[in-house]
Amino acid sequence: MADQTAEIRRPADSLAADEDFASIKVRPLSGALGAEISGVDLARPLGNSLFAEIHRAFMRYQVIFFRDQVLTQEQHMEFSARFGALQVIPFVKGMDEHPEIIAVVKEAEERHTYNFGGKWHSDLSFQEAPPLGSALYARDVPDFGGDTMWCNMYGAYEHLSPGLRRLLDGLTAVHSARRSYGPQGQFRNDDIKSMSIVNSTAALSETEHPVVRTHPETGRKCLFVNPVYTIRFKDMTEEESRPLLRFLQEQAVQPENTCRFRWTRGTLALWDNRCTQHLALNDYDGQRREMNRTTITGDRPY
Ligand code: SIN
Repeated sequence: MADQTAEIRRPADSLAADEDFASIKVRPLSGALGAEISGVDLARPLGNSLFAEIHRAFMRYQVIFFRDQVLTQEQHMEFSARFGALQVIPFVKGMDEHPEIIAVVKEAEERHTYNFGGKWHSDLSFQEAPPLGSALYARDVPDFGGDTMWCNMYGAYEHLSPGLRRLLDGLTAVHSARRSYGPQGQFRNDDIKSMSIVNSTAALSETEHPVVRTHPETGRKCLFVNPVYTIRFKDMTEEESRPLLRFLQEQAVQPENTCRFRWTRGTLALWDNRCTQHLALNDYDGQRREMNRTTITGDRPY
């Protein structure tokens, strides 16, 4: 019998064409998602037609990268704010002068079992309106290691069998920050000394989102669950929910559904948090890594 979960991968050539882009150069990173964009200086104000091209690339590739950018914190914020209002995020203290920017830092002498962002997740999915996206700017990178991976949550949905997609279409998931930032959470200020993590009982609260959401800009359906913040399906126990959540995650992070980015200092990555998950690799003990992140406000999933 045919395997009903057999993959119907999106042909990589649907990502390949860049003839649609007049003023930027677009180089796809993998067959699943991700593209490097060149020919843009993000330190300068972007005219509307240039911004429209960048936005189109963002919608098509889901995560876009700009290398060799020299940005002040204000320019980083200005670029991110073209996509939506910036938010001050809970549980991680932002910079004194710019609370909308968090510094994601691991010092050379730190050894973390869990580094920040070190498990597959979409940012802040426990919020009623989780972020549209985030813009991560590399200020200091290790000589090797410290890459970030993304996976394509449209693909994670589209590759499932019609029967499972129908089942998931009717389900709601419960999200919470408690495993990360609750009083017993994995991220603790005494472990991650280089960042200001604020563990709080506020992280115990729960939010419900559809398991399959419709992207508000592309109209495409994607899976919206992740192993860090999705606790269970609504009206089911955690134990009952675990096998299906695990299966969905395994499908989402199939190597062919991911991309992996090797950072260089001065690169800015912008990802669409509504239709991707990401993971920061923790393979560079003994070396320093410092990134600055802005977070762009999103809509309530539907
Ligand atoms: C994050 O999850 O925002 C951090 C990603 C990274 O440091 O690569």
